[in-house]
Parts: sequence; structure tokens; C-alpha cells
Amino acid sequence: MTESLNEQASAGSATQERGYGSLAGKVAVVTGAGRGIGRGVAEALARRGAAVMLGDIDEEAVAAVADALADEGCQARGARCDVSEGGGADRLLDRAVSEFGSLDVLVNNAGINRDGMLHKMRDDQWSEVLGVDLTGVFFLTRRAAQIMRAQGSGRIVSISSASWLGSLGQANYAAAKAGVVGLTLTASRELAAKGITANVICPGFIETDMTRGVPSQVWDQVVGRIPMGRAGRPADVAGLVCFLCSDEAGYITGQVINVGGGLTW
Ligand code: NAI
Repeated sequence: MTESLNEQASAGSATQERGYGSLAGKVAVVTGAGRGIGRGVAEALARRGAAVMLGDIDEEAVAAVADALADEGCQARGARCDVSEGGGADRLLDRAVSEFGSLDVLVNNAGINRDGMLHKMRDDQWSEVLGVDLTGVFFLTRRAAQIMRAQGSGRIVSISSASWLGSLGQANYAAAKAGVVGLTLTASRELAAKGITANVICPGFIETDMTRGVPSQVWDQVVGRIPMGRAGRPADVAGLVCFLCSDEAGYITGQVINVGGGLTW
């Protein structure tokens, strides 16, 4: 009892020393960090003091983001990684451990969409989206679980989507994102006793390259349904990721949290 109170007290004072919400001393991996939400998340984590390994299939983009962060005095490295290849996912996490010394945070963010109505959907539209959006999360979460179990600590945050509940023209994407919820909530149950949390964030409609391509009529329709009256920004998602990875959120696990400006789908 005394020991655990002492542990809590020392964890509390460490937090105070670093400041509320600080991630100093943590090592984070963010996938799909070359642009959009992943970039915003990587920047926010790095600016709160974490050493960040940024993975993306677009090597140039991720190198540019990492270099810009390093110029600000942050610890950041970029690496090419295709999350749909198990070996690539493992190498990204192992590199974070070898270069920065641990793996405290995994943010499963990389994702693609290949929309089409179900009755016209091709096999390749289905398998590409499942491969990146779901199997990619499996590969990374499995390796992270191995590393974090051995450490006895860690935070996993998976970016699903409000579309996981079903979305017109997105049978592949919705199925993959629903899978991410099931996978991450299972991880939360299996890993809780090891001091590891796993949570899911479901962004609503966020302004990134993924959504900028929608016809202006559809854009207006979707934004018109958002109670806050605007599309979200990557920073809106990044703020929650940082909180879930902070010392203050250590007792929050197995949650599915919407970031949608009040739009609940
Ligand atoms: P985005 O298309 O702007 O950026 C995605 C990033 O992932 C890109 O840098 C891309 O190169 C990278 N990527 C793609 N395939 C990859 C692979 N196989 N391996 C590694 N990296 C890969 O997309 P956005 O909007 O930033 O989305 C990020 C995440 O948020 C995705 O999982 C997406 O499904 C999810 N999301 C986005 C919403 C939005 O409104 N933008 C809403 C709900 C969820």
C-alpha cells in the first residue's frame, strides 16, 4: 500500500516537473505522418517533448516534416514504411526503440479510402483498403504489444472514423474502421494488466487531402450537418491524442471517442 502510494506520489511529482500534459522523455511512433492528421499528431507530440518516429509510404513528405520539426529543436526522424507489409511495420517500431530507447506511444493513423457503391465495388478496392486500414493496424499493434508488454507500459491510439458505423459508398472503409475498433478494444483488454492503454479516436469530417477532393456540393452538405458549422482540423484530433498519451490519462482505456464538432453520424 505504502509502496503504491509512494509510486503514485513520485509519478505525480514527475508530471509536475515536466508540466501538465508534457510528453518529455516519451518515444512515439506515428504512421501516415507525412501529411494531414498524422502530420498534425506528430507535430503536436514532438512539440510536447516526445521523440517521434514518423512513418509514411511517402518518404519525401515524412522526411520534410521530420526535418522541419528538428529545425524547431524537436526530436523527430522520418522513415519510409508501408503499414500493409508486416515486415515494414515491425522495422518502423524496432527502429524507434533502437534510435530512441523505448516505445511509449503508437498512433495508428495511416489510412486510405477507395470509395464506391457496394454493388459496384471491385475486389482490389476492398483488399487495398482492408490491407492498409485494418491489416496495417494489426501489424503495428501486434509488434507494439510485444515491445510494450516487455516494458510494462505504453499507449496505443488508433484512428478509426465516424464512418465505422456505416457510410454510403464506403463498405470497404467502414468495415476496416469497424475492425480497427474491435482490434483496439481487444488490445485494451489484453494489455490493461500490463499498464498499457489502448483507445480509439473517430474523427468526423477533417479538412485534409483525403476530404479536399470531395465535390463542393457534398462538402457543403456534410459541413451543414456539423453542429459546430465547420470541418475539423488535424490539430483538433492531435489534442486528444496528446491527452490520451499523457500521464494524466493513464486510467483511460478501451474508449471510442468521437472528434466531430458535435456530428455523431
Ligand atoms: P491523408 O490522405 O491526408 O493522409 C494519409 C497519410 O497516410 C498520407 O501521408 C499517406 O501517404 C499515408 N499512407 C497511405 N497509405 C499508407 C501506407 N500503406 N503506409 C503508410 N502510410 C500510408 O488522410 P487523413 O485525412 O490525414 O487521414 C488520416 C487518418 O484519419 C486515416 O486513417 C483516415 O481514415 C482517418 N480519418 C480521416 C478523416 C477525415 O475527414 N480526413 C475522418 C475520419 C478518419
